[in-house]
Amino acid sequence: MNKKIGTLYGIGVGPGDPELITLKSAKILSRVQVVFAAASTKNSHSLAVNIARPHIPKTTSIKMLSFPMTKDKKKTRESWAKNAAIIINELIQGKDAAFLTVGDSMTYSTFGYILKHIQATAPYITIESIPGITSYQAAAARLNTPLVEGEESLLVTSGVKGGDRLRQLSCKPETVVFLKAYRNVKDIISAVEETDLFEDCVAISKCGLPGEEVVSDLKEFANRPPNYWTLIIAKQKKKKTPLKDEIRMGRHHRRQSEAVLEFTESM
Ligand SMILES: C[S@@+](CC[C@H](N)C(=O)[O-])C[C@H]1O[C@@H](n2cnc3c(N)ncnc32)[C@H](O)[C@@H]1O
Repeated sequence: MNKKIGTLYGIGVGPGDPELITLKSAKILSRVQVVFAAASTKNSHSLAVNIARPHIPKTTSIKMLSFPMTKDKKKTRESWAKNAAIIINELIQGKDAAFLTVGDSMTYSTFGYILKHIQATAPYITIESIPGITSYQAAAARLNTPLVEGEESLLVTSGVKGGDRLRQLSCKPETVVFLKAYRNVKDIISAVEETDLFEDCVAISKCGLPGEEVVSDLKEFANRPPNYWTLIIAKQKKKKTPLKDEIRMGRHHRRQSEAVLEFTESM
């Protein structure tokens, strides 16, 4: 008789507010036997567990897995292997388990590494990834600012190495989101200013969490070490054509009919 092996759920718990977790994730958390979350080797605190706590029954076992914050690739790989083995050990006992991630489970998440490691080394394990609301979606909502509209593009990048990713692009997207904007803020701001295209640049720390901060004076912000839970959103100036110029160029009428067409097509 085949022994039951549990399923591993990668759960994005959203950016902070426990109400911003999906119904699907809340349902899974109410029934899994074990919940895993990543912690640094220095402490066992987990923001993901705090966010998900209202949805985890008191009897559920919560296990912290320590991942070193290091650039040493060997140590990092060893920690994936060690932690994957701990997870697999629970699954092969027939228990279902969840691995929590702040924001979305597929966006800059430790779960992504664990997922790939288990897929490669234990392909018989069933893994289901459940998406979550990302930090930058929550930040855009907090600012009441659409991220992208119409034909615009969005770049989501890491700010760990400053603004280099933005510099490297010959065509700059209308909106740029720097996650991990807790280091090199000065260089992120320099890269944004160098293009001379962006007018709104706002940093948000701890979005939706106690101590939330929205900062638009980024020069002042760059002079103090930001919190780890910080992101920066930069938006290009909108190209506005005065209405009378549009009419003179005969575009106004065409735009209106295009809008009607778009509306009809989306119905
Ligand atoms: C390892 S990444 C995780 C991203 C996450 N999976 C997501 O979907 O947003 C960590 C970075 O996410 C951003 N972040 C996550 N939650 C945040 C929050 N509540 N407020 C501001 N930034 C947040 C910060 O830039 C932080 O350095």
